[in-house]
Amino acid sequence: MVFAAKLSKVPDWGKKLVEVEGQPVLLVKTKGVVYACERECPHQGAPMEGALVKEAGRISCPRHGFRFDLVTGACQEHPEFTLRTYPVEVRGDEIYVDLA
Ligand code: FES
Repeated sequence: MVFAAKLSKVPDWGKKLVEVEGQPVLLVKTKGVVYACERECPHQGAPMEGALVKEAGRISCPRHGFRFDLVTGACQEHPEFTLRTYPVEVRGDEIYVDLA
C-alpha cells in the first residue's frame, strides 16, 4: 500500500487525479467511500478525470458515457471493456492504494 492523498482533499461525489509511484491514479469518492482507478478509459483512452460521478460506486466516461464499477472495473453495457481499479485503504486522513 502506497500513500496517494489526504482523504480531505477528495470531495464527496468528486475526483482527484494523483500520481502514485510515477503513475497517474484517479481517486473517486461517493457516499464517503474512496475508490481508485486508472486514468485512461479502456474504451478509447479518454481522461477519466473528466468523468461524471452520479451513482455510488460508479463512474461514467466523459467521451461515450460507458459506466464502470469502481470496485470490479466492469462495464455493464460493454463487458469487453474493463477499467483497471486498485485496492484502497483509508487510515485516518490518509488514502493508500495498492498498484500491484
Ligand atoms: S473513451 Fe470512454 S467510453 Fe469511449
